[in-house]
Amino acid sequence: MSPSLRTLLLAASFVPAALARITVRNDPDPEAEADSLDALDFSDAAAPLALTRPGGVHYACKCLPGESCWPSAQKWNTLNATVNGRLRVHIPPGAVCHSSFQGPFGTVNTYDPVKCAEATANWSNEQWHVEQPGSNLWTYFTNDTCRPTTNPSDACTLGYYGVYVIMANKKQHVKAGIDFARRNNIRLIVRNTGHDFIGRSTGYGALIINMHGFQDITWTDNYKGPGSYKGGAVTIGAGVQANTILAQGHAKNPPRVVVTGECPTVGISGGFIQGGGHGPWTTLKGFSADNVLSFEAITASGKYVTANEKKNPDLFYALKGGGPASFAVILSTTMKTFTDLPSAGATLYINTTHTFDPDVIWEGTKIFHKWSNHFVDNGLYAYYEILPFTLRVRPWVAIGKTKAQLDSILQPMIDELDAAGIPYDFESKAFPTFYDLYVDLFEPEAAGESALTGGWMFNHHDVATNNDGIIEALKTATAPRSDLFGIIVGHLFNPGYGAPISNSATHPAWRNATDFVITVLPVPAGSSLAQKADLQDVLTNVVDEGLRSASTSGCTYVNEADPYQPNWQSAFWGSEYPKLRALRAKWDPLGVFYAVSTPGTEKWEVIDYGTRLCKRLPAPGPSTGQ
Ligand SMILES: Cc1cc2nc3c(=O)[nH]c(=O)nc-3n(C[C@H](O)[C@H](O)[C@H](O)COP(=O)(O)OP(=O)(O)OC[C@H]3O[C@@H](n4cnc5c(N)ncnc54)[C@H](O)[C@@H]3O)c2cc1C
Ligand SMILES: *[C@@H]1O[C@H](CO)[C@@H](O)[C@H](O)[C@H]1NC(C)=O
Ligand SMILES: *[C@@H]1O[C@H](CO)[C@@H](O)[C@H](O)[C@H]1NC(C)=O
Ligand SMILES: *[C@@H]1O[C@H](CO)[C@@H](O)[C@H](O)[C@H]1NC(C)=O
Ligand SMILES: *[C@@H]1O[C@H](CO)[C@@H](O)[C@H](O)[C@H]1NC(C)=O
Ligand SMILES: *[C@@H]1O[C@H](CO)[C@@H](O)[C@H](O)[C@H]1NC(C)=O
Repeated sequence: MSPSLRTLLLAASFVPAALARITVRNDPDPEAEADSLDALDFSDAAAPLALTRPGGVHYACKCLPGESCWPSAQKWNTLNATVNGRLRVHIPPGAVCHSSFQGPFGTVNTYDPVKCAEATANWSNEQWHVEQPGSNLWTYFTNDTCRPTTNPSDACTLGYYGVYVIMANKKQHVKAGIDFARRNNIRLIVRNTGHDFIGRSTGYGALIINMHGFQDITWTDNYKGPGSYKGGAVTIGAGVQANTILAQGHAKNPPRVVVTGECPTVGISGGFIQGGGHGPWTTLKGFSADNVLSFEAITASGKYVTANEKKNPDLFYALKGGGPASFAVILSTTMKTFTDLPSAGATLYINTTHTFDPDVIWEGTKIFHKWSNHFVDNGLYAYYEILPFTLRVRPWVAIGKTKAQLDSILQPMIDELDAAGIPYDFESKAFPTFYDLYVDLFEPEAAGESALTGGWMFNHHDVATNNDGIIEALKTATAPRSDLFGIIVGHLFNPGYGAPISNSATHPAWRNATDFVITVLPVPAGSSLAQKADLQDVLTNVVDEGLRSASTSGCTYVNEADPYQPNWQSAFWGSEYPKLRALRAKWDPLGVFYAVSTPGTEKWEVIDYGTRLCKRLPAPGPSTGQ
């Protein structure tokens, strides 16, 4: 997200205002690899809480603080000892600006002027949020609770955050957290960088396992298998972010790269890779998930496993794009590396510097987009944004190409813009490596705003046959109603160009992708539940429905989509879905993990106004007794 996008989001959200030590339970050695039977033993799981809600709907639910099924302080202390004292009560990061936090265990005084100044100064700083125990960068799914304020008497409550967090840095800690959640029927949230757009690294009343402490990185020039691949590889700890791995790779001789996202602060081995993971190298090398050689993980039954071509190949497949927080907790990912190459980049702007006529900007946008098949068919990637009165393509990425080659690929578009009399600024430039381009042309992104997000992919056929219809849909998405505006973040790439055959769980339709578009609908601070429901309806039924109607591909990206995407099973995974659903039933039959709209969660629901996680039960048969 560019600085100008952030300004817009800001404009849209007028901000108003026990501990006794106990002996450690003797668990089996987590270093030992589980044989597959052991890895599927769930016999120690706690029974869920049975509830009935108005309408006579029966549910089996997770436990919440204050209920008799909630573990005693003594049990939490035992857990704390097992994780070497790394258990924390989770307090929302903005609480330091509020006089108190009204949490599930009572009221705690939280005001701290120095820390409040720091939180206020860093609220839009992604890295600052990443380093908090449980913070979410996009605040909507925290219920936008506890924002920094200049009025300390503003209420600060838990919102939709978890209650405890394990600051894990050993696999034993991860195992302890999973086991505790399973044995006590507690909702479990795995939290890595907190980038998730759709609330999947937060959850009301949950135990959070924070994975940011897993920072190990090991490079090799000759991966030894299993499998046929020989060459460079790197094993990346669960908490490592894209900028760290790219900077380390660049320092090698010759410089190495990995397929990461365009975003420098997003993780690699967490939700990103489990959704598939796209970035500037995706046209040439496929999704990040296509490049995985092996995972280390802890299963829902608390067992340490390796997953690759030879060991647990079904889990290996599912972790490569089958959906985050669904099959296991990843400890590390081993991926292919590539030698970095000289590259060329370009930018295009059409905005109020050039014209105040929105029709001229849209005409320019239509011409730009008309050539998008041509761009990806020549091996390019591009990132672009559509904001009110603005098209900004920043950047096109041409890896392994000279400036002259990039210019000649873009020339037909330039000619057409000129012929149509569209004013613009265009620039192109050569770089010694992709990494130099990445640092120069990708911009810092911002955190701390509240918005709903959706998204859809347009394939080659869509662009070739219906570019005008796509542009009309993008217009609708940016002005879905007279009182609303939206933003478009587009990505031109085709994983099928360099990796025509999928080896991962990602939707097969991606192999003819051209443009994957994220839609953003800002949510003003302090919106009521009714206002939020209205905006969600606009996102699903106006903004994203417009994109779907302009397309034939029937595909979108689980990490960057409407959480309430209609027919999410086929929209996210297509023909892969039945396999993934069966694998979920095998590896997590009880729902120790949960993320919205992921395989096998059809019966799961968050009820009671976004708080309680439950599974719907069949209605009991008519009573036969008296
Ligand atoms: C500014 C921004 C830019 C982005 N750019 C890109 C991009 O270029 N390409 C792209 O593909 N995506 C991009 N994304 C989307 C990104 O893929 C998702 O936000 C993704 O969920 C981030 O994963 P994470 O682990 O870093 O974040 P988190 O929010 O910490 O986790 C996301 C999900 O993964 C689960 N999870 C995290 N770690 C683990 C683990 N170790 N084991 C099991 N489950 C885990 C969490 O429980 C949660 O469900 C971007 C997002 C943002 C906000
Ligand atoms: C866990 O133990 C550490 C070290 O003793 C302590 O500082 C921390 O407060 C404990 N956490 C909880 C939630 O009690
Ligand atoms: C947070 O803000 C303070 C004060 O502005 C600054 O010194 C610090 O570097 C920031 N932290 C991060 C992680 O950027
Ligand atoms: C979430 O926010 C809504 C207002 O949009 C409020 O009515 C509700 O009480 C909040 N719930 C929690 C758990 O914070
Ligand atoms: C508008 O385009 C110019 C280049 O002509 C650029 O410098 C400026 O940042 C752009 N403005 C926005 C808001 O993107
Ligand atoms: C991709 O789409 C184009 C245009 O519709 C078509 O010609 C081509 O065969 C498609 N390729 C694949 C792999 O589906």
